[in-house]
Amino acid sequence: MPQPVSTMRIVGYGMTALGKLGRSASELMREALQKSLRSAGLQMKDLDGLVAVPSLSHPHFMEAHYLATQVGLLPHRGPGSVRVRTIDTGGAGPVSGLLEAARMVKDERCQAVAVVAGDAVSSLATPEFLARADQGCRDPENSLPSPCIPHGYDQVAQWQLRQGLLSREQLAMVSVLMSRQAAKHPLALTRKAHSLEDVLRSRKIAPATNLLECARRADGGAAIIVASSNFMDEYMGHDLVSSEDGVSSARLGPVAATGGLVVLGGGEASGPLYPPEEIDESMFSCEAAAASAFSEAQLLPEDLQWFGLYDCYPICFLRALEACGVTPKGTAGAWVEEMFWKTESGYDAGDFPINTHGGLLAFGAPWEVPAMYNIIEACEQLRGTATGRQVPSVRRALVYGNGGIFSHSAVAILAQPVD
Ligand code: CAA
Repeated sequence: MPQPVSTMRIVGYGMTALGKLGRSASELMREALQKSLRSAGLQMKDLDGLVAVPSLSHPHFMEAHYLATQVGLLPHRGPGSVRVRTIDTGGAGPVSGLLEAARMVKDERCQAVAVVAGDAVSSLATPEFLARADQGCRDPENSLPSPCIPHGYDQVAQWQLRQGLLSREQLAMVSVLMSRQAAKHPLALTRKAHSLEDVLRSRKIAPATNLLECARRADGGAAIIVASSNFMDEYMGHDLVSSEDGVSSARLGPVAATGGLVVLGGGEASGPLYPPEEIDESMFSCEAAAASAFSEAQLLPEDLQWFGLYDCYPICFLRALEACGVTPKGTAGAWVEEMFWKTESGYDAGDFPINTHGGLLAFGAPWEVPAMYNIIEACEQLRGTATGRQVPSVRRALVYGNGGIFSHSAVAILAQPVD
């Protein structure tokens, strides 16, 4: 009998607690990896691929090789081979990693690939954090003052403010919206919604950026497992034969048991590492990444029911709304304001089906990890397990990761499996 066409699936995911944890990035990565394997019902020996993104707090040469050696995936003593890769596209890393894992399953015939990220930037003292973060994004002329990252995003925010496309309040409303979402997620760091005044009166970090408009620094790890549907079917078959109680999915974890989530398509594009002297549309890459993802998935924005949009700073989220087709070009500020009023005194999750976990601004942001939270929240929404914040009837979802200062964009479209 011919094999059914195999699809690439997320069959497991897991994350550690978030906060100031005093643990190394590697420990957080290992815990997240173990949790994601458990939710797939797989064991370390079932992996034949691993993609890792580097950490800022505990950097290692060839992070993926380091992690694979620590967890015993390498040296590989069984049949076949194991491939591991470190991907550094900054905060876009988890989505780049997801797309790379899907390619490894599709083109390199890997059976199951883990994508892992972890960092402990909250446990780093602020001067040390800033020394490392500034060094990563500083231009050779040193024109970006420290903290360079907030100042870089701020330059873009000011550019849009000058164009009259946004108001200062609309930028701050993004943080309020994210805090309202986070308040509904049991693991989010921000437990209580901010008022607009809270955000506008918080400490100024750059001319148009206050503290509550900065990605909320955290320690944390998160991982996903991408596998081929054929491999999982075979795995389930073995299970059927070996299980004594006749339960076919006895060894499969909860995510894999329901078929996992299908990776329908994706796209990536790049921009400069730091903003050019003259900011214009040419520095942005989310539009191109999203267009590739929609084209590969053969879908349009209106075919999606949930969005996980990178929001390290409000301007990133506002640009993503337009780039991913949630709202037409030039209207994101007005759209956010409309959502701000719509969600002011209680709302249903379906009224605002974006970043239902609270994003970087309010869920928590361990450097290059947070796009993994977008992916995990997309999976929860697609599986219908986002208790207390479930958007009704989510069949397809988009996740966007952004690296550096608009320096890399990776977009993926995920879907429920079709029976
Ligand atoms: N929401 C709620 N609370 C917040 C918050 C937010 N968004 N941001 C900070 N806070 C809280 C902190 O948790 C802290 O609370 P406690 O006192 O209870 O611990 C308090 O406000 C003060 O914050 P900090 O300790 O961070 O203050 P600081 O003066 O030491 O540092 C800062 C201020 C320099 C702005 C620093 O917070 C910072 O750099 N933040 C931005 C982090 C950042 O840029 N991350 C990367 C984003 S870009 C990206 O994601 C792309 C990529 O490629 C990595």
